[in-house]
Order: sequence, then structure tokens, then C-alpha cells
Amino acid sequence: MEAPELPVDPLGVLRKRRSAKWQTYPADVLPLTVAEMDFALAEPVAHALREAVGRSDTGYAMATPGLGRALAGFAASRWQWDIDPASVTAVTDVGVGVVELLRLLARPGDAVVISPPVYPPFFGWVPEAGARLLEVPLARGGAGWRLDLAALEAAFATHPAAYVLCNPHNPVGRVHTAGELAALVRLAQIYRVTLVSDEIHGPLVLPGATFTPLLTVPGAAEVAVSVLSASKAWNLAGLKCAAVVTAAPRMAALADRLPPDTRWRIGHFGVLAAVAAFTDGGPWLDRLLATLDHRRAMLADLLTQRLPMVTWRPPEATFLAWLDCAALGPDNQARELFLDRGHVALEPGLNFGAAGRGHVRLNFATSTDILDQATARMAAAAT
Ligand SMILES: Cc1ncc(COP(=O)(O)O)c(C=O)c1O
Repeated sequence: MEAPELPVDPLGVLRKRRSAKWQTYPADVLPLTVAEMDFALAEPVAHALREAVGRSDTGYAMATPGLGRALAGFAASRWQWDIDPASVTAVTDVGVGVVELLRLLARPGDAVVISPPVYPPFFGWVPEAGARLLEVPLARGGAGWRLDLAALEAAFATHPAAYVLCNPHNPVGRVHTAGELAALVRLAQIYRVTLVSDEIHGPLVLPGATFTPLLTVPGAAEVAVSVLSASKAWNLAGLKCAAVVTAAPRMAALADRLPPDTRWRIGHFGVLAAVAAFTDGGPWLDRLLATLDHRRAMLADLLTQRLPMVTWRPPEATFLAWLDCAALGPDNQARELFLDRGHVALEPGLNFGAAGRGHVRLNFATSTDILDQATARMAAAAT
């Protein structure tokens, strides 16, 4: 029997949340923006947090050995990925992990490559680490958005310090294939470019696609480091805990040089919640993926019926839909239209780089009711 869909509280209850998604816009706006989910928390996670509050257990985090063991158990059972728990270093969040790794990898002014359209903070993380952005956009073809391996080779030949991979890729929802990742690893080996793989969306690969953790690709261990977190798949972003993972001595030596004080900057609740999620949150994650699969199909129907001028490719991963609204106007005009006339907030495409012109990103990790209301308002705004 199929597991029932995950519940979502009514709008009036959601509006009481104090998180960024629910506090940024006035009460008459439906926020389908920042990547927070509206589903009720996974019970094993809620239980771990309630127990901690009950014990007044609110001191500093102690991530070892629990986080590494929990992540290794999850990765082995989900992805047949064999992680040594000792090779897991806890960091505050994925952003901190990537920035601190880039500080170690790049000398001031060195180039770091990213592939827009991509998660907006990538554009800030590189300069924050003192490096220079080198953009190699994804290639857009009949089959959707893909890594542009030829353009990446040309960029790698200029000897950038690193490439920040988004695996799977936010906002386009692309799950890079094992073959594409093998080709990327080959380029990294030839041109001696370190790959920093942001795999926060790895657990959110939807039915129909298969996630390849970069470090499972032959040869990747010598040239790559991955950053993962339970925060996207179990909605724990405010709790602050992520993991840097390595699989070979050279990369382990890099992780060993992360600032030692990092351990005091991790959220204690983040560690407790991540351990609970990775250890006991599998059945909930399966329900989440089934629910998101249904939402993705529902959105496809709603867009066809109500917004036929919008084009998209349903994502292979994430709960984010990357909608081409160029028919509604240039730049961020569609986003403004949906917000001003429809009172639906979406992420503006240009935040993801110039390749995002004419696009919006819609977060469908919500109830069928909110998705129905939002698309009805968007359709009314567009006419
Ligand atoms: C690709 C990607 N990386 C990182 C993050 C944020 O992670 P963190 O809050 O752990 O820095 C997000 C959030 O949506 C994301 O989509």
C-alpha cells in the first residue's frame, strides 16, 4: 500500500511560522519562494528536538562521532556510498562549508568556476572567500539544462582554483548523470581543478532519476570534496548543521585545515536533528518524495491548463520548478506581475544569473490547496 501524502497545516497556521518564508511578505501574499517546505516535521526529528528541550539540553554541539556515523549509514543504505564516518567534518551550514573550503583552495584573486543559472549565494560565496567568479553557464538544449562540458574544459584550461558543482542542480532540478560526472572528474584530473560538490539536494532526487554522489565516481576521491546536509530534505535550515565529506588523504588534509573553531559554530539542535533524520528519517523521506512527485504532476497539469504561455521541464530533483515566463516579459517582469497583481511571491530568475532572465522559481513543497490557489492567482495576473 502506498504511504499517504505528508500533511500541511492550514494557511492560517503556516502564517504563524516565524521563519523567513512566512515573514518576508504581507499576509495577502502566498510565498512560494525560499527553499523551506510547508510539510509537518518528520516525527523522529520532532521527537529528538522535544527530548532535548525536555532535558534543557541546549548547550554547544558535539557532532562527533554521531553525525558521521548517521550520515554514513544513510549514504550506504540510500546510495550504496561507503563513507568513512571519520572523514565527515561538521560545519555550520553548506554555505559556511563551501566558503571555508574555497578559502583554503584559492589564493586571493584566483578564479572559481560556477555554472549559472545556479543557487544565488554561489555568486557571493566565491568573492567572500577572496576568489574571482568565472561563470560557465549550463548548456540549454532540447533535453533541458546540462553541464557544458566543452565550455568547462576551456575554463579549466585557464587553471581556476576550484569548480563549485551543484549536484543535483538548483534551480533547474537537473540530476547530473554518472557519465557526466565521470567526464567532469576526468577534466578535474587533467587540469588539476578541485571539485567542491554541493549535494544538499541529493536526498531530494524524485522518482525517475538516480542520484550519483560525486565521490562515488571512480577517481573523484583524489580531486573532490562534498558538502551535504539534512537541512533541505528534512526542512532543518534554521538549525545549522552540515557535513564536509572526503574520501582520500589529499582531500582529508584539506578538511583538516578547516578552522578549528568551526565545531563551536554548529547548531546543537542541527546536529541532533540531522542525526535523527539520517538515522530514522528514511520512511518520512520516502513519503516526502512520493508527495513531491504528486505535486510535480499536479503543477504540470495546472500550468498546462492555466498558464500555457509558461514553459518548463519538470525537475528530476528538488521541490523547485524553474519556469520560463519570457512570454510575459523580459528580465524579472513576470515575477513582478505575479507579485503585484497576483499576490504570489516567487524567486526572480535574474537572481540565479543572467541565464535566469525571464524565469521564476516556484517552490512546490506545499499543500495542493496552496498550489491550486497560487496558480489560479498567477493565471489571473497574467491575463
Ligand atoms: C544548492 C544549495 N546549496 C545550499 C543551500 C543552503 O544551504 P545552507 O543553508 O546549509 O547553507 C541551498 C538552499 O536552498 C541550496 O539550494
